[in-house]
Amino acid sequence: MYDENVERVLISKESIEKRTAELAARITEEYRGKRLIMICVLTGAMVFFADLIRKIDLPIEVDTIVASSYGAGMTTSGSVRISKDIKYDISGKSVILVEDIIDTGVTLKTLTKMLATRAPESLKVCSLLDKPSRRKVDFEGDYVGFKIPDEFVVGYGLDYAEKYRNLPEVCTLKPQGK
Ligand code: PRP
Repeated sequence: MYDENVERVLISKESIEKRTAELAARITEEYRGKRLIMICVLTGAMVFFADLIRKIDLPIEVDTIVASSYGAGMTTSGSVRISKDIKYDISGKSVILVEDIIDTGVTLKTLTKMLATRAPESLKVCSLLDKPSRRKVDFEGDYVGFKIPDEFVVGYGLDYAEKYRNLPEVCTLKPQGK
């Protein structure tokens, strides 16, 4: 699963597991008695989502959504559309959107704006990673695992050209590896 383009481990398995448990404990505490639905933003968040929901000690519903950005390149171009919508009605429910990374903020800004029109009781965002220095639009996650510098990261769900999603930790990629 590793190759010569993987540079170094940025966040270890142990750190991810510890931080995920902390976030799950906060969510468990804050959503007790609520109708909580957790939505995985595919594909990158799938690994984090699978670990996070198994640490939440509440009855929850789960759903998935796919957002696609127009334009080529390694960054979000500025225009995002929903290419696969959620299955369930979220009106009156407490919603947590789960992401792997907040980069420019464009994806989550768009998704939260769209989902907010469907009358959820509340709508929050949980992201494993956050790169605040890359923001193009004003957006803050409610539950954030790690703030990271502006380095290209792969692993634990994050890809480069669909590779490396199965690495068990978050790693940096060598600049020449991209
Ligand atoms: C990544 C990531 C977020 C988005 C963040 O998805 O999973 O959804 O980009 O970037 P932004 O804050 O600049 O909008 P990507 O489009 O790479 O798809 P993937 O989840 O299928 O890897």
